[in-house]
Amino acid sequence: MTVQSTKLEYLPSDLKKELLPKHVAVIMDGNGRWAIGRGLPRIMGHKQGVNILKDLLRCCQDWGIKALTVYAFSTENWGRPKEEVEFLMTLFGGVLRQELGEMLQENVKISFVGNLQALPNALQSEISRSMEETKHNRGIYFNVATNYGGREEILQACRAIAKKVDQGIIQPSEIDQAIFEHHLYTAPNCDPDLIIRTSGEMRLSNFLLWQLAYSEIYFTETLWPDFDRSEFKKALSAYQQRERRFGKV
Ligand code: IPE
Ligand code: IPE
Ligand code: MG
Repeated sequence: MTVQSTKLEYLPSDLKKELLPKHVAVIMDGNGRWAIGRGLPRIMGHKQGVNILKDLLRCCQDWGIKALTVYAFSTENWGRPKEEVEFLMTLFGGVLRQELGEMLQENVKISFVGNLQALPNALQSEISRSMEETKHNRGIYFNVATNYGGREEILQACRAIAKKVDQGIIQPSEIDQAIFEHHLYTAPNCDPDLIIRTSGEMRLSNFLLWQLAYSEIYFTETLWPDFDRSEFKKALSAYQQRERRFGKV
């Protein structure tokens, strides 16, 4: 099964353009269960997950959502069986190679967030190339969290800031939220307005711990490979019903 939608689809009339999130983040979970439920090996779930992601990216563009950040591989996912980890690394590289032309054409600016130096060299090359070639695109900001961990991100920001303090570049009293954010992997992106997690799990699993402080959270039982446009529309409708108060009344 693949998902294909090549023509522009307008925002459904029951969604309000002015109430759309600017930045959506997704914990794409449930690939393994999707495959096992069909009597397939887990990796088939990851393959279908990629097809669903491609369509979600296109959907965000069609509907006018400016930024999409997805969790592709966590710092904890190295603990999976070697074959699955290797499959994922090869899959990511292959997808990047295959999709780069289309991303260029569709004005996608792709970025990777996470500890990228620990990824296989072949994947690092694909990542650098895709980021370099799409860096001037402004149609949609597409951020892929790969070997990403929120705690590690915060720690590396602390280390970088501590080094600058040590060198006399920053005074401890100057360290504020803006400076801190500037040292996160996700700089200079704004925080996600909406975070979606599929597959019925209700946890953050070390994703964007700093950035999600005031994001609206949407959980769904739907497994990631089944998360199509109609599921995304449900998440956006739920978001549009929310009242964001940011601690005020
Ligand atoms: C999410 O799906 C994809 C990655 C973590 C790479 P899972 O592989 O976690 O699927 P389940 O949770 O085992 O069903
Ligand atoms: C979170 O899913 C990581 C990604 C989606 C890449 P996991 O499946 O790894 O999370 P846990 O282990 O259920 O918390
Ligand atoms: Mg999972």
